[in-house]
Amino acid sequence: MCGIIARVGDGSAIDPLLTGLENLEYRGYDSAGVAVQNGSGIDVQKRSGKVADLKRSIDDVPLEGAVGIGHTRWSTHGPPTDENAHPHTDHVGDIAVVHNGIIENHATLKAELAETGHEFTSETDTEVIPHLIQSFIDDGMDTEPAFRRAIDELEGSYAVAAMRSGEHVLYAARQGSPLVVGIEDDGFFLASDVPAFLEYTDTVVYLEDGDVVIVDGNGIEYTDLAGNQIDRERETVEWDPEQAGKGEYEHFMLKEIHEQPTSIAQAIEGRIDPGRGSIDLEGFEPGTFENVDAVQFVACGTSYHAALYGSTALNQAGISSTALLANEYSVSAPPIDDNTLVVAVTQSGETADTLNALRSADAAGAKTLTVTNVIGSTASRVADETLLIRAGPEIGVAATKTFSSQAVMLVLLANRITADITGEPRTDLRSLLEALNSMPARIETLLERSQAESVARRYGNSQSYFFIGRGLGYSVALEGALKFKEITYEHAEGFASGELKHGPLALVTPDTPLFAVFTGTEDEKTMKNAAEAQTRGSPVIALCPPDHEATEMADEHLEIPETDPALAGLLANVQLQLVSYYAADQLGRPIDKPRNLAKSVTVE
Ligand code: F6R
Repeated sequence: MCGIIARVGDGSAIDPLLTGLENLEYRGYDSAGVAVQNGSGIDVQKRSGKVADLKRSIDDVPLEGAVGIGHTRWSTHGPPTDENAHPHTDHVGDIAVVHNGIIENHATLKAELAETGHEFTSETDTEVIPHLIQSFIDDGMDTEPAFRRAIDELEGSYAVAAMRSGEHVLYAARQGSPLVVGIEDDGFFLASDVPAFLEYTDTVVYLEDGDVVIVDGNGIEYTDLAGNQIDRERETVEWDPEQAGKGEYEHFMLKEIHEQPTSIAQAIEGRIDPGRGSIDLEGFEPGTFENVDAVQFVACGTSYHAALYGSTALNQAGISSTALLANEYSVSAPPIDDNTLVVAVTQSGETADTLNALRSADAAGAKTLTVTNVIGSTASRVADETLLIRAGPEIGVAATKTFSSQAVMLVLLANRITADITGEPRTDLRSLLEALNSMPARIETLLERSQAESVARRYGNSQSYFFIGRGLGYSVALEGALKFKEITYEHAEGFASGELKHGPLALVTPDTPLFAVFTGTEDEKTMKNAAEAQTRGSPVIALCPPDHEATEMADEHLEIPETDPALAGLLANVQLQLVSYYAADQLGRPIDKPRNLAKSVTVE
């Protein structure tokens, strides 16, 4: 949700800034801009549209400078116009600022500043920040104290990077929105996420809430808001830039769908031993969960569907569990006590709704754990414990490989929790772990043989798309529909198979294809439900193994290899990801950056 990048060091900042913006565009793509020190002042170029549009403008009117800041926007305050694009400056153009987050008291600050003669040119909350800094400079402060004082006035969430005309220095602060430092031999980056500067360096420092950093070409100072020095550790990230690029694929989404054999292999590596029938989750000794009496999962969107997958697996094992939409948690959280485990599932670890739910569970005394893809993310700092899904960077806005890795980790977690609580692992744990071990190979086969493209072409111009499933297949049906609507812009809905007859059947016509997910659990009932829609005209596309009975009744078949029922839904999901991808491609949609969305939703 908005990407910020800043660079100070030797050489021109322009190329690193523009590369950074391209790499961050998944966080927002309504508008983009950069500001650089040109030797005598600050040059700003910003506009609505994509980073590519900004680059064209810069080709026409070149910029130069060794210190600069950049921003790619997902609008919250004010529409995506040139004026509302970042960077924002004060009225004399002395201070430039980029910001990710929301300044909740911006209206009050704006009114106070306006009374002292400050004029504003945008509708954003951000614009108050450069004006505020400038107002303290006008009062006689130096830049650094003025920056700290301005930050102290802000309420809400922010990652801010600022610079002042004529200084070879960047000022930055973090509260509630991610900010990471990248360290090169001859300079420094500040960015919302690591892929922004991965081509330049893999040495990073994750900042924490309340941190303020002052950085020039020679060094960096980590402090708290009051200016006290603090220690922050350097880390080396293991993602390589190649991983973060599109490679031979036309879209990141297709690349990330095809990366699932690798991402799942990474998720399970060293964590399962099918021979011994054991699960080893680092940091979670056997017995860790023995006192847990209920598990609540909190998450949003695709991560919520993975959470539902994990919660269903636990309920099926006899452990009381609920999956809750994180944004509903504050108004509908079930009771919590010391023995409640709250698991936040979040790819980015930065989703505001999920963080809020996690914080309120923590305040209510629950044990908390986050299942995330991002080391050092806010969720991993807030939760008591972290389980990494190790999926590698996911750039396509529509989550694909991270869903399957989350679900796999939650199946493992569910089995560990069950074994700790009941004192017994499930009797067929070995065969589940063997199936898990074979999953990368099964996905490879599925990807090689998939007929998803032809199914997408055949049904791609329908009126509405329905997805049904039961048990673990229900969460996959919901995820299939979310993916489809998100990138095709067509109406799609997921239902529990048995719910069709309680209302949705009224919508069924020959123009509403129905995707039915078979996981090997109560399949005969799902077949009956699919047949009820088929009799009323819906073409049925069955997702099941080749010799499954459903292949006889269905109009189309998307094959999923035989596997354990706990994993079958995840194979079906890969087919559904491909169907969505090819349907969206056929419609000419901007697949990696669907309209109105952003990858990391850091506002409530
Ligand atoms: C859909 C999608 C979103 C995210 C949701 C939560 O494809 O990606 O629905 O799943 O915004 O994001 P995280 O997992 O980062 O908390």
